[in-house]
Amino acid sequence: MSVLKITGGRSLSGSLRVQGAKNSALPLLAASVMTEGLSVFRNCPHLTDVEATVAILRHVGCRVYEEGDALYVDASGPISPEVPDALMRRMRSSVIFLGALLGRCGEAVLSLPGGCELGPRPVDLHLLALRTLGAEVEVSGGRLCCRAAGLKGGHIVLPSVSVGATENAVLAAVRATGSTVITGAAREPEIADLQEYLRACGALVTGAGSGVIRVQGVKKLRGAEKRVMPDRIAAATYLAACASAGGRVRLYDVCPAHMVPVLQALERMGCGVTAGENLIALERRGALRSPGPIITRPYPGFPTDAQPPLMAASLKADGVTVMIETIFESRYRHVPALRGMGADIRAAGKTAVIRGVDALHGTEVLASDLRGGAALAVAALSAEGETVIRGMEHVDRGYEDMAGALSALGAEAVLEHEGDADDG
Ligand code: UD1
Repeated sequence: MSVLKITGGRSLSGSLRVQGAKNSALPLLAASVMTEGLSVFRNCPHLTDVEATVAILRHVGCRVYEEGDALYVDASGPISPEVPDALMRRMRSSVIFLGALLGRCGEAVLSLPGGCELGPRPVDLHLLALRTLGAEVEVSGGRLCCRAAGLKGGHIVLPSVSVGATENAVLAAVRATGSTVITGAAREPEIADLQEYLRACGALVTGAGSGVIRVQGVKKLRGAEKRVMPDRIAAATYLAACASAGGRVRLYDVCPAHMVPVLQALERMGCGVTAGENLIALERRGALRSPGPIITRPYPGFPTDAQPPLMAASLKADGVTVMIETIFESRYRHVPALRGMGADIRAAGKTAVIRGVDALHGTEVLASDLRGGAALAVAALSAEGETVIRGMEHVDRGYEDMAGALSALGAEAVLEHEGDADDG
């Protein structure tokens, strides 16, 4: 088990290059299985979720190797449509292989992603999209079997916004015959990043980033080179860290246009935020104020993934902060740990009410999930004494060396592996 120890009270300063986006890298890597060639992904973050995706790619028959900062995926050989249960379980978002394998092999056999730490994660919208294109779906013994002798373009109407279902719909449509229109599509920038890669591979896709995506099917895709877009959630987390600890940081390799609601919330808290083309500077000198109500929404609204770190930054802010989580059911699992650090938070259903306190204190806490774990680190930076965060393997799914990043900004943060021999 990895443990992050943070001694609070130091303000942050300096510059940090922000990692490539997890939520872009995973669908891009899955999509590479549909090409019959070699793809090169630059700026691919080093994350355990990326390792899990690579394990699936290798299992189905791709050759994957790293060279310098690039990850190469060679999908030119035969590809198997089956992903074993053990590999599926390592990562929730492996469901994205459904559309990719169906598009490449005409078949996909994988296990159903069950509930997860954020509440149930159904796949009905994914299946609706694939069925609309003519796939037959069978579910038995927890295995999901999708087959289509030939996918046919159609009109996919998504009744509610889902990032993963939109991505699966696009992937399946790319190799279907004829044209597909996806309405009710999620508008997240990671979907536009996927479109950019698919177009470089020879796919005919337009409209990603809007609610309507159009795809004209093609027979074959070639490999392509792609730079993974910056991670807007990691960037939001490090800005929240500076808001919490105080000081001044500059993040580069970021896209401020993707982060408008987060930057506005930080400004409402009293932080000075300056955005350039690829950089964001944040300065916090005095006391923080409540940002006012924060309601999570699909893009371009306030991202659910940024809610826990922003909550952590508002624990000592003057006034009352109300957060309303509209995307996931169980997104307040980090609240008991924050309360254990002295925070005044009441959470019930979708709503959390935070009353600013004068001080937080370090203690031992357990990361409940990826972003909840990040929230504990953000809170620890402004707590008195040492906070010991266990369960950092959740955080390693989405943050590249968080301890290193925080230390580079001047925090006292050390990652330890419990059970490691003491070589003293
Ligand atoms: C993606 C992101 C995740 C982020 C989430 C919402 C990746 C790898 N992960 O997850 O970090 O928190 O978007 O921005 O990109 N739903 C259904 N039926 C379905 C699919 C989803 O009801 O078939 C519901 C979900 O339970 C949830 C909501 O739709 O309440 C949004 O989920 P979705 O956008 O699909 O999230 P993911 O793609 O899994």
